[in-house]
Amino acid sequence: MMSWSDSLSRRLAERRGTSLWRRRQAHQSSNGRHLYTSDGQQYLNFSSNDYLGLSQHPEVIAAWQQGAEQYGVGSGGSGHVTGYTSAHHALEQQLAEWLGYSRALLFISGYSANQGVIAALMEKEDRIIADRLSHASLMEAAMHSPAQLRRFLHNNPISLKQHLGKSCAGKTLVVTEGVFSMDGDCAPLSEITQMAQSTGSWLMVDDAHGIGIYGDEGRGSCWLQNVKPEILIVTFGKAFGLSGAAVLCDEQTAEYFVQYSRHLIYSTSMPPAQAVALSEATRQIRAGDELRQRLQNNIQYFRREAQNLSFSLTDSETAIQPVIIGNNERCIALSETMKQQNLWVKAILPPTVSPDSARLRITLTADHTQQDIDVLLEALRGFDR
Ligand SMILES: Cc1ncc(COP(=O)(O)O)c(C=O)c1O
Repeated sequence: MMSWSDSLSRRLAERRGTSLWRRRQAHQSSNGRHLYTSDGQQYLNFSSNDYLGLSQHPEVIAAWQQGAEQYGVGSGGSGHVTGYTSAHHALEQQLAEWLGYSRALLFISGYSANQGVIAALMEKEDRIIADRLSHASLMEAAMHSPAQLRRFLHNNPISLKQHLGKSCAGKTLVVTEGVFSMDGDCAPLSEITQMAQSTGSWLMVDDAHGIGIYGDEGRGSCWLQNVKPEILIVTFGKAFGLSGAAVLCDEQTAEYFVQYSRHLIYSTSMPPAQAVALSEATRQIRAGDELRQRLQNNIQYFRREAQNLSFSLTDSETAIQPVIIGNNERCIALSETMKQQNLWVKAILPPTVSPDSARLRITLTADHTQQDIDVLLEALRGFDR
């Protein structure tokens, strides 16, 4: 019989020395513009999802402090025991009202929300038809569910239609994202919604990267494209500058999750102070047209000035501007070269992205200045030579 240690060392050996070996590095701190390493080095940060810079917003920080004074620092249990306070309730109501749903339910992360929703909803005879580039948290939940998983071609409604045309004994859940996390492109939500509706399927949209950024008062990709999926996932680790997530749905579906979603029932809820901070972040987002405009200006500036690079940019018009390199080793080397120039741009490698599509995932935020972007562009130009 193989020992645990032999088994782990075999699997580590398979990966060690390859370009897929993952490393973490403890930083001193970071925000939407800078990252400081423990050795005191300052980098321009082009890998953060803190798109509006709210992680450092003084009023959001003050709200968290005030919440901690009032409630302490932890929730003390799952929402079904002691962990559902007036702060959680107020945030849920605020989110539901803002996004036009009857109910919002808080989860501790986007990963947990996607797992908690899919695991609770799907039964054996059902099927999930998901965009093939959907986030790992959606795909993993779908693979572990008893339902059949089918993947449609990325952002391709014709491929979705072909899958929907095949018969299924149970219910169908169509899954996609508002803005794709590794490519930055946007789903054609209007066509996808029509197809889902015409076949009696439900649509679940994970708008982790669109919420706060698009639509009136930052209501996200669905609002922008004038659709209302049965299940909307919003996460708080990106434009909100915090962490956590919410599921938006109707009354009956929310009650179903309260009864059946194991992530809600068996996990300690987020600290009430965090809910207070999230309420303030939501207020900042709703009033954040100026921040959104700064972000859009930065995106347009980057794309305009990047046109003469030898790398072609993708079609993404969002804050996520990947530069596809292809080869893993070359991508890592370019990321290291950027680091030597005090630019923090992470290499994203398979299996996070598909084989041969390793990339520098550049993210822009409202906090970057045009001079910051000029420094980035100059470094990218250096690759040409
Ligand atoms: C599209 C998408 N969904 C879900 C998640 C997971 O959210 P969280 O970081 O809150 O777990 C992420 C990323 O981190 C994401 O990009």
